[in-house]
Amino acid sequence: MTSQMITMPKVQLGHDGPMIGAQGLGCMGMSEFYGQTDEAESRATLERAVELGISLFDTADMYGLGANEEFLAPFIAKNRDNIVIATKFGYTRSPENPNDWSIDNRPEFIRAAVDRSLKRLGVDVIDLYYMHRRIDAVPLEESIGAMAELVTAGKVRWLGLSAVSASELRAAHAIHPIAALQSEWSIFTRDIEKDVIPAASELGVTIVPYSPLGRGMLTGQTFAGALTDDDARQNFPRFSAENREANMQLVARIEDIASARGITPAQVALAWLYAQSRKLNAKTVPIPGTRKRNRLQENASAATIILSDEEMAALEPLADAVRGIAV
Ligand SMILES: NC(=O)c1ccc[n+]([C@@H]2O[C@H](COP(=O)([O-])OP(=O)(O)OC[C@H]3O[C@@H](n4cnc5c(N)ncnc54)[C@H](OP(=O)(O)O)[C@@H]3O)[C@@H](O)[C@H]2O)c1
Repeated sequence: MTSQMITMPKVQLGHDGPMIGAQGLGCMGMSEFYGQTDEAESRATLERAVELGISLFDTADMYGLGANEEFLAPFIAKNRDNIVIATKFGYTRSPENPNDWSIDNRPEFIRAAVDRSLKRLGVDVIDLYYMHRRIDAVPLEESIGAMAELVTAGKVRWLGLSAVSASELRAAHAIHPIAALQSEWSIFTRDIEKDVIPAASELGVTIVPYSPLGRGMLTGQTFAGALTDDDARQNFPRFSAENREANMQLVARIEDIASARGITPAQVALAWLYAQSRKLNAKTVPIPGTRKRNRLQENASAATIILSDEEMAALEPLADAVRGIAV
């Protein structure tokens, strides 16, 4: 496969972190949630990502119940100095209890979780360590305090949070600098624009939008009748039989813009995020998930596509019209 040259722009991680590629790679689907995977193609996709200037590779301890971290280990070993590896703790599901979706933010849980992730990833230090989900039961001082101790101990370089409110982000940042905030952000899901992004911009926190392609929906794939039992999207409201058709009519507007420009809907979705980030003064590194080199190339190219004001205006009403909640 040939690889066109892409000059990947760079964005600073947090207020004192390294400059990293303005697009990262979500690795979750390589192990779980989105149906059958081709391991060899996933591995080739990881290697190609480095060639394309992608630095940030996103996993979590619960993806594949640890299997995703283990899957990444050989790739990390080979590319350790050229990549930023991000993982997350918080969900308690494990091979013994795969359906236990409880969340634990207690210091003792965090201390055990980081050691498990370090071992599975095969590294001495995790570059970016996120709290995957926060629960009120544990005071922020305790959980962020425990995360900060991991930095002092040399087990973690930078701290991140996922899906928190603006006030939680501010409170956490006052305890220890937060480098990155990961939340869902896309043409269809814009909740963080109101309060969270302004707070992150003010604090120098990098925004890492997850599911920037709406879990594949914004790419124009209909998934009608195509979601297998091992595909979690069959349970997601936006993909339900009653909502999917209406949502695909909204996606048709993205497809119209794409075809008029000679680009793909996925590229429109990612270029929209970059444009919206410039408008909101947000440092942004989206992490589209793909397991295929051709899609990776397509997505990476979007980091330099500029949408016009007219194109942005046409996309503006879609989030309010989408049917079904984001999960
Ligand atoms: N913090 C959190 O709570 C949280 C939640 C969800 C996800 N995440 C992270 O965010 C990452 C990305 O989110 P996501 O994977 O849920 O959703 P996404 O990036 O919005 O979409 C991924 C889906 O789009 C397909 N796709 C990717 N590029 C494409 C293209 N150019 N054309 C057509 N289809 C394309 C992928 O299929 P193929 O793989 O077959 O190409 C996959 O089905 C995950 O990998 C994970 O690391 C974090």
